[in-house]
Amino acid sequence: MAVEKRSDSLCFFVNGRKVTEENADPETMLVSFLREKLRLTGTKVSCGGGGCGACTVMVSRYDPLSRTVQHFSANACLLPVCQLAGAAVTTVEGVGSTKTRLHPVQERLAKAHGSQCGFCSPGMVMSMYALLRNQAAPSMEHIREALGGNLCRCTGYRPIIDSCRTFTQESQCCQGNGGVGCCMNAEETPGAEPSTPRLFPTEDLLPLDPTQDLIFPPELMRVALTEPQQTRWFRGERVAWVSPVSLEELVLLKSTHPQAPLVLGNTTLGPEMKFRGALHPLVISPSRVAPLFEVTHTPQGVWVGAGLSLTQVQMVLGARVEALPQEKTELYRALLHQLRALAGQQIRNVASLGGNIVSALPNSDLNPVLAAGGCRLRVASDGGSREVPLDQDFFRGFRTTLLGAADVLVAVFVPETRPGEFVRAFRQAPRKENALATVTTGMRVVLGPGAVVRDVQLYYGGVGPCTLRAARTGQALLGRPWGEAMLQEAYSVLLEEVVLPPGAVGGKVGFRRSLTLSLLFKFYLEVQQALALMSTTPEGAQSTTPEGAHSTTPEGVQSTTQQGVQSTTPEGVQSTTPEGVPEGVPERELSAIRPLPCCIQPGQQGFQEVSGSQSEQDAVGRPVMHRSAPAQAAGEAVYVDDTPPPQGELFLALVTSTRPHASILGVDVSAALRLPGVLDVVTHADIPGHKARSFMGYEEELLADKEVSCVGQLVCGVLADSRDGARRGAAAVRVRYQDLPDPVFTVEDAVQRESFFLPRRRIERGDVCKGLETADHVHSGELRLGGQEHFYMEPQSVLVVPVGEETEFHVYVSSQAPTITQEAVAETLGVPSNRVTCHVKRLGGAFGGKITKTSILAAITAVAAWKTGRAVRCVLERGEDMLITGARHPVLGRYQVGFMEDGRITAADLQYYANAGNTVDESPLVVEKMVLHMDNAYHIPNLRGRAVACRTNLPSNTAFRGFGVPQAAAVVESMITDVALCLGRPAHQIREVNMYRGPSVTHYGMRFDPENLWRCWEEVKARVGLGPRLEALRSFNQDHRWRKRGAALIPIKYGVAFSEAFLNQAAALVHVYKDGSVLVSHGGAEMGQGIHTKMQQVVSRELGVPSSQVYVSETSTASVPNSCPSAASFGTDANGMAVRDACQKLYKRLEPIRTKNPKGSWDSWTRAAFLEKISLSATGFFRGPDCYMDWENMEGQPYSYFTYGACYSEVELDCLTGDYRTLRTDIVVDVGQSLNPSIDIGQVEGAFLQGLGLYTLEQLSFSPGGLLYSRGPSQYKIPAVCDVPLSFNVHLLPDSHNPHAIYSSKGIGEPVLFLGSSVFYAIKDAVGAARAESGLGGAFPLDSPATPERACLACATPFSQRVPVSEPGSFTPWALNI
Ligand SMILES: Cc1cc2nc3c(=O)[nH]c(=O)nc-3n(C[C@H](O)[C@H](O)[C@H](O)COP(=O)(O)OP(=O)(O)OC[C@H]3O[C@@H](n4cnc5c(N)ncnc54)[C@H](O)[C@@H]3O)c2cc1C
Ligand code: FES
Ligand code: FES
Repeated sequence: MAVEKRSDSLCFFVNGRKVTEENADPETMLVSFLREKLRLTGTKVSCGGGGCGACTVMVSRYDPLSRTVQHFSANACLLPVCQLAGAAVTTVEGVGSTKTRLHPVQERLAKAHGSQCGFCSPGMVMSMYALLRNQAAPSMEHIREALGGNLCRCTGYRPIIDSCRTFTQESQCCQGNGGVGCCMNAEETPGAEPSTPRLFPTEDLLPLDPTQDLIFPPELMRVALTEPQQTRWFRGERVAWVSPVSLEELVLLKSTHPQAPLVLGNTTLGPEMKFRGALHPLVISPSRVAPLFEVTHTPQGVWVGAGLSLTQVQMVLGARVEALPQEKTELYRALLHQLRALAGQQIRNVASLGGNIVSALPNSDLNPVLAAGGCRLRVASDGGSREVPLDQDFFRGFRTTLLGAADVLVAVFVPETRPGEFVRAFRQAPRKENALATVTTGMRVVLGPGAVVRDVQLYYGGVGPCTLRAARTGQALLGRPWGEAMLQEAYSVLLEEVVLPPGAVGGKVGFRRSLTLSLLFKFYLEVQQALALMSTTPEGAQSTTPEGAHSTTPEGVQSTTQQGVQSTTPEGVQSTTPEGVPEGVPERELSAIRPLPCCIQPGQQGFQEVSGSQSEQDAVGRPVMHRSAPAQAAGEAVYVDDTPPPQGELFLALVTSTRPHASILGVDVSAALRLPGVLDVVTHADIPGHKARSFMGYEEELLADKEVSCVGQLVCGVLADSRDGARRGAAAVRVRYQDLPDPVFTVEDAVQRESFFLPRRRIERGDVCKGLETADHVHSGELRLGGQEHFYMEPQSVLVVPVGEETEFHVYVSSQAPTITQEAVAETLGVPSNRVTCHVKRLGGAFGGKITKTSILAAITAVAAWKTGRAVRCVLERGEDMLITGARHPVLGRYQVGFMEDGRITAADLQYYANAGNTVDESPLVVEKMVLHMDNAYHIPNLRGRAVACRTNLPSNTAFRGFGVPQAAAVVESMITDVALCLGRPAHQIREVNMYRGPSVTHYGMRFDPENLWRCWEEVKARVGLGPRLEALRSFNQDHRWRKRGAALIPIKYGVAFSEAFLNQAAALVHVYKDGSVLVSHGGAEMGQGIHTKMQQVVSRELGVPSSQVYVSETSTASVPNSCPSAASFGTDANGMAVRDACQKLYKRLEPIRTKNPKGSWDSWTRAAFLEKISLSATGFFRGPDCYMDWENMEGQPYSYFTYGACYSEVELDCLTGDYRTLRTDIVVDVGQSLNPSIDIGQVEGAFLQGLGLYTLEQLSFSPGGLLYSRGPSQYKIPAVCDVPLSFNVHLLPDSHNPHAIYSSKGIGEPVLFLGSSVFYAIKDAVGAARAESGLGGAFPLDSPATPERACLACATPFSQRVPVSEPGSFTPWALNI
């Protein structure tokens, strides 16, 4: 069948409006169509690959057979527009608007403080909205599922979940204190606390009103019902799209064009085309081929159409489970178990069953289960229809199956199970949800009389290039009674059979091999338990809990096995009882198959209310909503890439080095320039001014000239008239390199080669040698901490617009340091700063990553704009962003500690090596802060710390929230934990023995009073009831062999302000207009931390006006010059004072007017002031504290004050897989007199979860050649909803005062990130308990992040112990340990 030349018109609806596209391009995804063509920029792009949910929209389709409309959420970044013919799309703009009426989902998200930077908010809104369209009163489980595919980097999810919780009918009880002292029932519970103030009122929320929803377009219904189906063709520049209407036509197309892929969900194909450059000149969409969507029931099972989405498959199987007796649904339930954890909801809504099978991912979750379950495939080709068993022969190798290129998978037969047949599925992934599995399995056994194994099928994913059957292991089980004896032999065979080379792709070799064993053990126990229950249940009785229904203890701990308790007596097995049936699984062993708790309870947020005497108008101290939250939730908030394109705008894409250390021999751009739409190239030679940025005595080239020193270094940029054109142009540039010898990657390499950025930093107090000598014990240890990607949801974005005269430029940039960007652009162009104006409206998150690196990107973009005289936009893709812009510094910390028998530390010697990467950036300042915080909260009389930034051939690392403190303090806590382990005492006791007490002096001579540190500490202890909790934890651990709970209580003392005094200044400009409205400009950038809201509150107090009359438009270098970066938790302190200063000047100027008319209103005074020629505009200035650090003498006052906090976390760890849940987290933090408790609590929760990510989840991995592997949410996991502590309580310390900051408040942006380490140390505590089971005691190493791999291996279970370890150095590992 020939590719037709015709192109049909594409018709679909967006937000109730008809869209007709005459030249629909199959390569265009919905998100670009919405943003660029329809200018609906509410839908955001963060990852572009289906992994973050920022682009979520709702798609609705009419099904003419059932005559119903189906609504589902989908990721617009993977949705080809051509797939949308006949569909209605709803975007965030179609849901509600601040101009008309917000939808309750938007309103509640905003009011519940669930929107900080707001970049994730439209996606969150759409996921929840789609859920509500299907479930008007959803359960928390529904909500968890709906939000599972949406990432947020700011909030810590708690407020988002709470906003959604308002739609449920479930109890709103906080379950605080383990169910004692219920917040809903304070009066009835003796001894309960008086009810705490609430962060948001729930009384006046807009009700859910379905009449507000857009109706499905009647025209589309009519077309679906009446219009004859015809083949559709769409033709783009490079790709044609055909949508046949019958199976015959599809088969014909496939046989004529065997290389043309079928596109269903586009979730495999889309990322391949986008990220791996795959080009398919023809794609076939079988979405209208009915047989692919049919479901046929037979007495043996069900034929499921291969085109059904995974959500639809869930529904089909769920209905079978409801309808059939349990013994028939073993396979269905195992598949449902996998489907629940497979990807996020948006992916499951579009990804097809056939697509999952045919994609044949090595770690497909479905294939091992389908294969173990004995499923069959119906395949059509020009030779006719045939059935193919889905078994070991089906999978041929990496991403290949025995299906021919022209074969179409039509349907999958999923059989019912018979009595005596047991099917289970297990998966272990880097994150609990929405993560491709590390190892995934499907296992089936058929037992005969005497529980003898008649048939067994064990399939694994993630342990080779394709789904793999452990056939020999199965063989070893055949004919043997189901028992411990057979199992031991099975392990030995399995170890021989499933072998991974030590350098296998994906790494984690020991872990993966250990999982093959431990998951088999789990299967064994599941079956054992099912058999045991059968033997105790009357014949045929159905006394089970329904599938998926778990009995929940007060703490949310569920206590059933994977599939609910089995009790139907299968024929054959039952006849052998009692002799043949194995004994019940002992309670301790059952812990291996207990599901981890997952029910997120409402948490407590405590803060001190403002005094009753405070004026109503005065917003300071009140939990005021983030001022942009409604606009953010409505998708109306404008980020850089939402700015409409100026006339003639060009797009810049960057070419990056592919070598870690090489000379550049030549750059050939000819192929790029030949591509359509490509206009020009920008190279080092084009830079008119400074070609390098200079920092701390080192130069960093903007674009490499002669040499590159890391993979990812910027070499040149390609300019084109479209994004895709520029990206294709960049891909076509050829750079010739000559490798230079011996690149340096690890800190060990750097130390050996003395490759450092200077200065090194050192602080020493007391006599460390003597302190070590006099100690009862001396211990040495180390902690290696990986880096952390900022993963701000909004990628780096800049738009440079030449004004057209006198080399003047406007730079619209997502930068937390507009002045640094301004200077970089000016220097690079060789013009004075007064020609460059930087505008920062808001940032979609920054976390330190949008300072130096952004300025470099802006400078290069400005060169492009200068060279072409046209506006140039540069927006990094997620993968580029992660590759180019660096991360938090990985650190190796080594220590030697001397301590007494009573736990007192007499001396400590610490050494920090930070992996800085290839350029200096802010690394020397980061290492400075490490040694300044190496005491954390402890008085160590003899203390020495040294830190150095290692120069390596990796991308340059940069500032990240906490700026070295999270690494430095974690090493100290590791040291304390080791002391506790050596002494066999609880770690919190060692902490208490060593914490600063009374008037104190730091190791660099700064005086402070740790009283509030102790108050936080004691309050956490009291809130969690530490003694009884630890006791309960101990007894839990005794009762559970394979599950261990651990706890940690961690303090923080965090220095606020910049130690370079000049950075502590701030300025503001306040205009009052004649109508009384106030416009505030200040130097702080709004990046989600709510600084503009807080400034509004300051103005409201100082001028006595309601916050609603105050507006902050943007941060601009034209309004407030020479601003300092919004960083160091000092933004509000500094800018608040400057704004206050300006307001006080204005207020004073108005004094004569007020005196004249004391009863007048604010508006009348301002009008009068104008008439009396009084200036209504004032600048404010704050000089800031004169912090300093004298490194020569190792003393100073580098901070203005300290913010204190303490945090208790408790985890439950599955020792067999390393999977864990944070059961509870309680934080008490001293923020002084909070300016805005909702914002401060938001910062605390967000920082905590970011810290939890740093220490337990987020892992950057580099190839042995220095290439960053983890370049997107598929490979790099930030915390998701599933990672929120199940009980998450945050309290702001009451009655705290701080004379050093505005209105007695304290900076809070960074300090709490470190408290995420409490989860790390809780895991370590649980690991310690697991090791004790193996007879191991004392200190042991555990690196950060404590991923499931590390936690599981550290547990030293008999399974991981069985796996042979390859000699380091005898092979090249897949990833570097930097
Ligand atoms: C963010 C993300 C997370 C994911 N997480 C998981 C996970 O946790 N576990 C997991 O198992 N998978 C996961 N996946 C993979 C996902 O399940 C598969 O990509 C999906 O099932 C493929 O289906 P599709 O309809 O999107 O296929 P498409 O991308 O549309 O097509 C994929 C391929 O299959 C072929 N194909 C599709 N249907 C047929 C057919 N009927 N006959 C013949 N060939 C056909 C096409 O020719 C094409 O080559 C994830 C994917 C993403 C993007
Ligand atoms: S941008 Fe679409 S899922 Fe991330
Ligand atoms: S508010 Fe969610 S990413 Fe910023």
